[in-house]
Amino acid sequence: MYNARYVIPALLVFIILITLPFWVNVVTPEYSRPELVLPAGAEACVEPVEYMRAEHMRLLNEWRDAALREGKRVYTSSTGQVWDINLQNTCMHCHTDKAGFCDACHDSNSVDPYCWDCHIEPGAVTGASGNGGKQ
Ligand code: HEC
Ligand code: HEC
Ligand code: HEC
Repeated sequence: MYNARYVIPALLVFIILITLPFWVNVVTPEYSRPELVLPAGAEACVEPVEYMRAEHMRLLNEWRDAALREGKRVYTSSTGQVWDINLQNTCMHCHTDKAGFCDACHDSNSVDPYCWDCHIEPGAVTGASGNGGKQ
């Protein structure tokens, strides 16, 4: 009736094809969170860490709009601490290791913010580094 020479290999090909998503999952490494270099000598961020982890891109957009569209250059956090609205002098004053912090996380998530086309990275220029934006 049937010819085993053709049917069995065809069956094998079929089984491999329908289980392919499973095999792809087996060989693809799971995402693991990169090691982050946190600022030495600072306990907390401008907002709670869970909020920063999820929302820092939105906060930075708000900061930019506040500074440039509304001329508002200070930010009062949820804990009442007041900060200068400034990417370089506030965020990067604490997060001095951009490569070990921002880049480490962005690289592993395939994000590449273009901010540094214009804004200056820590260590890119020598000289005064301000007071960290704390008022
Ligand atoms: C006063 C120092 C300081 C300033 C200013 C600061 N940070 Fe932080 N940031 C920290 C510290 C310390 C932590 C870790 C807090 C913790 O683990 O509880 C942190 C955590 C974070 C995290 C979460 C990291 C993680 O573990 O997932 C992000 C993202 C972040 N900061 C971005 C920013 C951005 C963007 C700005 C500017 C809007 C900023 N930080 C300003 C000190 C600072
Ligand atoms: C714990 C991981 C993590 C850390 C640490 C981190 N980021 Fe991010 N960042 C992300 C992820 C993930 C996205 C993309 C989110 C999305 O697309 O919704 C992102 C997006 C951004 C964006 C928006 C980019 C775009 O093209 O929309 C900016 C700006 C940004 N991050 C700035 C920073 C800065 C500055 C630091 C360091 C002070 C930093 N991030 C640290 C995870 C991180
Ligand atoms: C084409 C150049 C350019 C790019 C790219 C750019 N900025 Fe800016 N940004 C500016 C200029 C110019 C100012 C005005 C500086 C001032 O008046 O203080 C500014 C101001 C800001 C401010 C408020 C004040 C300050 O100096 O921090 C924030 C916050 C900010 N930008 C965030 C960002 C973020 C986040 C990105 C990336 C997603 C980004 N910018 C990309 C040019 C740029």
